[in-house]
Amino acid sequence: MTSTLALLGGDPEVAVAGPHFEWPPIDDTTRARVAAQLDAAVSIPGRSGIVAELEDGLQAYFGVRHAITTSSGTAALHALYSAARLRAGDEVIVPAWTFHATASPLFHFRAVPVPCDIGPDGNIDPARVEELITPRTRALMVTHLWGRPADMAGLAAIAKAHELALLEDGSHAHGASIHGQKVGTFGLGSAFSLNGPKPLSGGEGGFVLTDDDDTYYRVLTFAHYNKRCKSEIPQGHPFAPYAVTGSGLKLRIHPLAAALAFDQLGRLDGYLLGRAEIARYLTERLARIPGLEVTPMPDGVITSWYGLTLTYRPEELGGLSVDRFHQALTAEGATEFDRPGSTRPLHELPLYQHPDLLFPGHPQHHRQYPGGFFPVAEHAYQHTIKLPVWHREQDLALAEQYVRAAVKVSDHHKELL
Ligand SMILES: Cc1ncc(COP(=O)(O)O)c(C=O)c1O
Repeated sequence: MTSTLALLGGDPEVAVAGPHFEWPPIDDTTRARVAAQLDAAVSIPGRSGIVAELEDGLQAYFGVRHAITTSSGTAALHALYSAARLRAGDEVIVPAWTFHATASPLFHFRAVPVPCDIGPDGNIDPARVEELITPRTRALMVTHLWGRPADMAGLAAIAKAHELALLEDGSHAHGASIHGQKVGTFGLGSAFSLNGPKPLSGGEGGFVLTDDDDTYYRVLTFAHYNKRCKSEIPQGHPFAPYAVTGSGLKLRIHPLAAALAFDQLGRLDGYLLGRAEIARYLTERLARIPGLEVTPMPDGVITSWYGLTLTYRPEELGGLSVDRFHQALTAEGATEFDRPGSTRPLHELPLYQHPDLLFPGHPQHHRQYPGGFFPVAEHAYQHTIKLPVWHREQDLALAEQYVRAAVKVSDHHKELL
C-alpha cells in the first residue's frame, strides 16, 4: 500500500508544481520565425506571404487541393456550413457530445442541429444515424473527439446512401488517420481549429480543407471578401461579381498566427510520434488500475492524442464519486488530469434548448431533448477523466508520477468514501 493520500495530509506523488503541460512547444526557431513575420507583414489581404505558405503546406500535408485559412476553428466551421447550401429549416446530424462550436454556427443559417448519440469510442455512432434522417436532413457532421478518428467507413456509406454532405470537424485530430488516410479528407470538406492547445496550434486560427472547387469558392466568398475573392475566383464564375463584398464577413487569419502555425506544421508528425510513445506507456499502466478504463482504440487508427480519455468506474471503487476521485488526483499534484467542462452534451446547453431567444424565428421543429435522451453521451461526459499526452522523452518521468498518483488514489479509495 502506498503512503497517505495528499488530500488527507500525505505527500503528493507529483513533486514539481504544475502546470506540467504547455502547448504549443515554442523554441528559439519558433520565436525567430514569428518575429521575422513582424517585419514581413502583419496584415495579408491576399493569398500571399505566410498565408500562402501555410495553405500550401496544409494542402501538401493533408493531400488536398484546397486549404483556406480562417480566424478560428469556429469561423472555419461557419464557412464550411455555407458550402452545404443550407436553407432555413434544414437539418444537420451532429454528435450529441462535441464542443458546441462543431454545431453552433448552424443557428446562423436557421438550420436545425440534430444530435446523434455516440458509441463506446466517444464519437458519433453510425448505428444511430439513419433513424434520425428525415426529408429535411442535408448533412452529417462528424467530430473526431479528443483526436480519435470516428468510424468514417460506416459514416461515409450512410452519407452516400442518403445523399448527405459529409463534413468533418478535425479540431482535435490534426494528423490522425485511418488506415493511412488523414481525417479531414473523407467528405465534402472539413474544418480545423488552430487554437491554443490543439495538436497543430497557431495560438488562434483555423482552416477548411476540401477537394471540391464549389466548396472552395463558397468558403472563400463566405470568409474572405475583396482581394482573395478577386484573385482566386475565376472570371465568369457566378460568384465573381460578388468578390468585393463576399458574403459580408471577414474571417481572416492573423499573419503572426499563420507564422506560428506554419512553424508547428513542420513539427506535427514528430509531436504525434512522441505522443504515441508516451500514450503507449500511460495506456498500459492506467488500464491496470481499478476504477479506470482506458477508451479502446480500433486497429489501423492513428490518433493525435489530443486527450487520453479514461472512463471512471465508481462501481469498482465502492461508489466513490468521480469528482472526489478527481479532487484526490489533483491533490496528488497530478493537476493535468481534467474533467471535460464546456465540451458537454449539446442538449444540456441553453443555446440548444432555447435557440429562439438568441435567434428569433428559429424553426419550430427544433427539438428540446430531456435529460437521459442521449444515455451514452451523458454517461461519457459524467464519467470521463482526461489527460493531455506529452511528446518529449524527458516527460516520461512525469507520466510515471501521474500513474503513481492514480494508483495511490485508487488504492486508498476507501479512505475517501
Ligand atoms: C471540436 C472543436 N470544434 C471547434 C472548436 C472551435 O475552434 P476555435 O476555438 O478555434 O474557434 C473547438 C475549440 O476548442 C473544438 O474543440
